[in-house]
Amino acid sequence: MTIRDICASFDVNGKYVRCEEIGTGNINCTYKVEYVRDGEKKEYIIQRINKNVFKEPEKVMENIVRVTENIRAQVKENGLDTHVFVLRAFRAKESGLPYIIDDCGDYWRCYRFIKNSITYDTCDDLNIIERAGQAFGKFQNYLNDFDASSLNVTIANFHNTSLRYKAFHKAIEENKCKRVNKVKEEIDKLLEFEEKACLLQKYLDCGEIPLRVTHNDTKCNNVSFDKTTGEALAVLDLDTVMPGAIAHDFGDAIRFVANTVIEDYPDVDEVALDLDKYEAFTKGFIGKVKDVLTEKEKESMNLGVFAMTVELAVRFLTDYLNGDVYFKTKYPGHNVDRARNQIALAQDVLNKKDCINAIIKKYL
Ligand SMILES: Nc1ncnc2c1ncn2[C@@H]1O[C@H](COP(=O)(O)OP(=O)(O)O)[C@@H](O)[C@H]1O
Ligand SMILES: [Mg+2]
Repeated sequence: MTIRDICASFDVNGKYVRCEEIGTGNINCTYKVEYVRDGEKKEYIIQRINKNVFKEPEKVMENIVRVTENIRAQVKENGLDTHVFVLRAFRAKESGLPYIIDDCGDYWRCYRFIKNSITYDTCDDLNIIERAGQAFGKFQNYLNDFDASSLNVTIANFHNTSLRYKAFHKAIEENKCKRVNKVKEEIDKLLEFEEKACLLQKYLDCGEIPLRVTHNDTKCNNVSFDKTTGEALAVLDLDTVMPGAIAHDFGDAIRFVANTVIEDYPDVDEVALDLDKYEAFTKGFIGKVKDVLTEKEKESMNLGVFAMTVELAVRFLTDYLNGDVYFKTKYPGHNVDRARNQIALAQDVLNKKDCINAIIKKYL
């Protein structure tokens, strides 16, 4: 099936003009399709869902439809443009489902392209970081009353830090590739972090913090911005929408956006938590959610930054110990560099604890 055929299978009107692949995402295959209707340009997104990552695409789509419909109703209620502030998944003409399956068994979906929008792959601009924070905060705010437990868990134990540690302990014990001795220092550090890093999961398990709808991929390139005004519009990439803790979303966003270097930068002396970026995202995010947060959630936000950073370090080092079987690596020791980078960041989060607690307090 061509992209044109796929697009024609969905309930979109107008005449096909052209399509182009937009290659920014890491997970899915994404095309921008142009149509024309009554002389007016209409743009859509056609995406092939990555079946290796998402084993049950229909459950992913069910979550997306439920979440976006909930947000759309509120956007409408607030008198805002639903073509701009929320993703819209089209239904297939024949089945009425929000996806089609092609001859190869691949799942495809069709979204409305957010009007006049762009996304940023790298993000150093504090203004954009703050606005991305606002977008993710607003997303949480809209979904405050949504029963998160009713969502499909499309990737089991995604942020179950304790379980990630269990796998880490097993990898150390098994020592399949005889690598334990090479990373003794890193292992010791992560074992030292274990109790604190697992606290968030504990709070969630015993109901001390509420289960919420979480986005689980809170990167800047998953927010669309108005090309003209720079305003943050809709949150994109809802594949990993699942039940979780709000501190997962906040923590993972900070972990990614506020590291002074990229995630696998090998010189750990340069790894640090950039306080300006931390503040920019926090200002945007907390500004939009503070009214719906419980006291315990407020307390848990910076714990989320630590937990998400350590959790990823644990996953990288576990993979190294198991022989680099999960994450794609570009060179031997790539996973060790990644783990060291995240360990250094987690340590800096601890070192700057007083500072970041003061910043978050300012916006709560
Ligand atoms: N509805 C949309 N409107 C505008 N741009 C979009 C839309 N959906 C996706 N994109 C663009 O495509 C990119 C990849 O899509 P995304 O859903 O994030 O896939 P991936 O999971 O591969 O990251 C986004 O970063 C954004 O630039
Ligand atoms: Mg994306």
